[in-house]
Amino acid sequence: MDSIKVVGGAELNGIIPISGAKNATLPLMIASLLTDETLTLTNVPRLRDVAQLTQILSNHGVDYAVNGKRTGQDDLEGQTLNLTAREIVDTTAPYELVSKMRASFWVVGPLVARMHEARVSLPGGCAIGTRPVDFFIDGLAALGAQIEIEAGYVVVKAPGGLKGARVEFPRVSVGATHTIMMAATLAKGETEIVNAACEPEVVDLAKCLIAMGAKIEGAGTPTIRIQGVSRLHGAHHQVVSDRIETGTYAMAVAMTGGDVLLKGAQADLLQSALDVLRQTGAEITETTDGIRVRRNGNGIMPVDVSTEPFPGFPTDLQAQFMALMTRANGTSKINETIFENRFMHVQELARLGAHITIDGHTATVEGVSTLHGAPVMATDLRASVSLVIAGLAAEGETTVSRVYHLDRGFERLEDKLTRCGAQIERVSA
Ligand code: UD1
Repeated sequence: MDSIKVVGGAELNGIIPISGAKNATLPLMIASLLTDETLTLTNVPRLRDVAQLTQILSNHGVDYAVNGKRTGQDDLEGQTLNLTAREIVDTTAPYELVSKMRASFWVVGPLVARMHEARVSLPGGCAIGTRPVDFFIDGLAALGAQIEIEAGYVVVKAPGGLKGARVEFPRVSVGATHTIMMAATLAKGETEIVNAACEPEVVDLAKCLIAMGAKIEGAGTPTIRIQGVSRLHGAHHQVVSDRIETGTYAMAVAMTGGDVLLKGAQADLLQSALDVLRQTGAEITETTDGIRVRRNGNGIMPVDVSTEPFPGFPTDLQAQFMALMTRANGTSKINETIFENRFMHVQELARLGAHITIDGHTATVEGVSTLHGAPVMATDLRASVSLVIAGLAAEGETTVSRVYHLDRGFERLEDKLTRCGAQIERVSA
């Protein structure tokens, strides 16, 4: 199995191109199930999760074609994906496929909306908590579906089609919002989603669905209204830039020092994280082509953070921020409110010399002057990249194993960092 070897100490200087958002690409690809015409997505990142989802979608009958690199195109520019679900040949999403990626469970919405039935395995995915699917089930039931759980599968039937209704989520869920919004596009009448997720990826999906002929208002606010239509058509859509990749590299620069332009990054997608970074002492400026992050030799100031749904500080940047705080001039508290078990990076950061204690949902990070390289192991996607960031600032060599987690969500991480002066390489086992 591949690992990533980092020799710490170098500043980061240069340009890092930001890819299309993984968390937008996945629901956008799933939206192709809603129409028999072609959905063309541009700025699609080259990631393992994207490849995995094409496999899952082709099992339902989706044909896909990836446009090759054009002359003069940078090898880090996004790819174009054409997805055509002319005919749905299978409404079952089997355990072997769904267990590899939680987001694939979201196919349940489009499948039941278009085919009036779906049989989808209960999901797997990152080991960051129990991650139940009750909001999806209650939401689809509100739209008139009959639902049973049989041998690890959620079996959903809506013989006369889905019917618009009011769906109120007990707490904000990105996946449940995506799924019910997609399902409601083809339901009869109006659906109102209350306490909807406001994440930029929900807005991006809504834009694409509208381009496909859906009638949606309010995406990006806690109340989304959808008027069902009888059919959707093909469309072209450009995937929004990845705010988590942006925040991750911004934190890497804040940690190592240096001056990097995050090209194509959009500041409005991660204002809260950028504000926190400014408080740590990093200089952040919005430019016409992205976000510039600088930190000179001054120390890193400790800042307390609590993860929140958008527009708050994202849980997907919590591990990376904790890595930064391990070198702060003082003590910070990091409170995780979204997932109950998202501190698995703590014991690995401790192997690099970090001082962190956990009390329930709160980690207390006491900054140290030096981290020391060590072999560490990644346990989930964002945890893995937090270990890379820490390794960039540690003395000596850090080896991060199980990098398949990184390949799920970070496109060509080692190439992007090498171009900015980092000593980082992939070691094939
Ligand atoms: C998405 C993101 C993930 C991010 C998370 C929170 C993708 C592919 N993944 O995950 O990177 O960390 O949003 O921003 O976009 N919950 C329930 N019942 C449900 C559904 C969710 O209790 O039926 C809970 C979850 O356990 C969690 C909280 O709601 O505590 C939020 O989870 P949710 O927003 O659904 O996360 P995902 O959509 O899986």
